[in-house]
Amino acid sequence: MRTGLKTAVIGAGKMGQKHIRIFAESSKLIAIVDLNKKVGQSIAKKYNVKFYANYAEIFKKEKIDAVSIATPPCTHEQIAIDCLKNRIPVLLEKPISNIIQSAIKIVNEVKKNNILLLVGHIERFNPAVIKIKELINKEKLGKIICIVAKRVGGFPNKIQDASIDTDLAIHDIDIVNYLLDSNPNKIITNKKKNLNVNQVDSAEYFLLYKDISVFIQTSWISSEKIRRLEITGIRGYAEVDYINQTIVINRNSYKKYSDKNSTFSDYMLRFANPIKTYINFVKKEPLKEEIYYFLKCVKNKTIINPSYAVNALKIALGKLP
Ligand SMILES: NC(=O)c1ccc[n+]([C@@H]2O[C@H](COP(=O)([O-])OP(=O)(O)OC[C@H]3O[C@@H](n4cnc5c(N)ncnc54)[C@H](O)[C@@H]3O)[C@@H](O)[C@H]2O)c1
Repeated sequence: MRTGLKTAVIGAGKMGQKHIRIFAESSKLIAIVDLNKKVGQSIAKKYNVKFYANYAEIFKKEKIDAVSIATPPCTHEQIAIDCLKNRIPVLLEKPISNIIQSAIKIVNEVKKNNILLLVGHIERFNPAVIKIKELINKEKLGKIICIVAKRVGGFPNKIQDASIDTDLAIHDIDIVNYLLDSNPNKIITNKKKNLNVNQVDSAEYFLLYKDISVFIQTSWISSEKIRRLEITGIRGYAEVDYINQTIVINRNSYKKYSDKNSTFSDYMLRFANPIKTYINFVKKEPLKEEIYYFLKCVKNKTIINPSYAVNALKIALGKLP
């Protein structure tokens, strides 16, 4: 996909560099912005685009159709609001902010200016998530009774203001909200500093969505990187791997044990081997899909209600939306 939209990326760190690569392929990338001149200038040179150390310069000096913000969460409120005030559609990396009040201010600015803000909850663009949502909607698993999510790995290289709840857990919280089309009515959290006295490095959530139980495990102290979702419905059980983009569905095949001579048999279910189905779908780069979607929204002047991002933030911080 290539649009003629003029774009800029603010923040050229780990995530920003991925945005820059995709914006350079899919739009007319005009400028990149980073406080770190050395890093910013070398990346601007690589892509043959302008470099600014201060994002406010792009409002004065460039005519930009859309901007992507991939700076640390503590900067999101100020940068996003300034872009929206300048009537520039924004793709904002998740979390919308680390602070609920800041997130609400950003959303108020969206409403005030009626400008597009897409918060980059990247897993919504993962083909495995899109497919499992379709299968759930078609009731292929029957009524959902429980979801278990696991998102664990080692310590990130750079932590800055990242916190495990708004950095890792927020992904699965948003995906469960999306899959169930609702918010939880009960939240229990357990966050601990295990190996680092200054930093919470594991967080678990037990969430109730009416009668559906959800357990989310996140940690920065695991040797293996795992990103999985297990969804139990009364007709089947799905295993979703976010990284490998695979879905396996195990369908129940049980019938009542019938032995006319025994009343006990009425209580028994006879289980055969579950029917295992490996679901076919095309694997795609989620960030590319997210950015393409954003650019399509910019072209079509689509406005999105970003309240999903505030809800995910509130739950990550242990508050009911
Ligand atoms: N969707 C995902 O899976 C995912 C993964 C990693 C990070 N992220 C998000 O991306 C964002 C950035 O994270 P990162 O890991 O790239 O961080 P990073 O520290 O690697 O990069 C941030 C960059 O922003 C620059 N910066 C800071 N303040 C700035 C300002 N006011 N103006 C311009 N530049 C500024 C820094 O100099 C740095 O280069 C965060 O919101 C993070 O949560 C999302």
